[in-house]
Amino acid sequence: MSLREGRLIYEGKAKRVYLISNDELIMEFKDEVTALDGARKEHAPGKGKLTASQTAFFMDYLTKSGIRTHFINWDGDRRIHVRRLRMIPVEVIVRNYAYGSFIRRMPLMKPLTRFTAPLVEFHLKNDGLHDPLILPEDIIEAELASMEQIMEVKSVALKVNQLLSELLSNHGLILVDFKLEFGVNGNGALVLADELSGDTMRILMNGKHLDKELFRMGGSVKELMEAYSTLNSILGLSL
Ligand code: C5P
Repeated sequence: MSLREGRLIYEGKAKRVYLISNDELIMEFKDEVTALDGARKEHAPGKGKLTASQTAFFMDYLTKSGIRTHFINWDGDRRIHVRRLRMIPVEVIVRNYAYGSFIRRMPLMKPLTRFTAPLVEFHLKNDGLHDPLILPEDIIEAELASMEQIMEVKSVALKVNQLLSELLSNHGLILVDFKLEFGVNGNGALVLADELSGDTMRILMNGKHLDKELFRMGGSVKELMEAYSTLNSILGLSL
């Protein structure tokens, strides 16, 4: 299905966003891979289609499982059609195992130690400040969201974790951690937005990353593309 062209309103490291009507957008996934806050950047032909397909697959699955998401449809290539929201500029990270920036701030724990219960973290979306960890109280004081919204964000994030962990585990995969972003629709309801792909999740298959960690660790674009293709074939996503 081809989606209507729209007006470019935002361009980030991995995506472009086009406005197609007052309440609908197109997210276009770029054939680029970046790491270390954009310090390492490479062209990756075919990657946009892989991350768009993964996002469409996970968002569709979550929608069918009762999570309110921004997803409408996928064009079969690099674009997905989504609802326009007022975005909350906070990255919500859910962790099942100690890894990544958690280990950097808590070096007392060994990588890949399983947490007794999943952790939910809030980070301010700000590349210049490297997305610092913030408290729920900071979000409320800065009027980015209300206490009720934060409580709902946390409970939806944990529900998403349960659904995705189970789905991946049924395919023999481990969900280490992932990042979510939320927005609010015209009715004031909280909606899960943005992306869900190997770029925003850590997924292990027999100890091997099927996610962007490969590239962060110095792996090649080819290795990354092979890992994303493996994830797609395990999930039964044909391109
Ligand atoms: O780097 P860190 O350990 O905080 O990342 C936790 C999870 O959030 C990882 O799955 C990573 O891919 C994701 N993440 C992201 N975008 C960011 C920061 C982290 O998708 N800006």
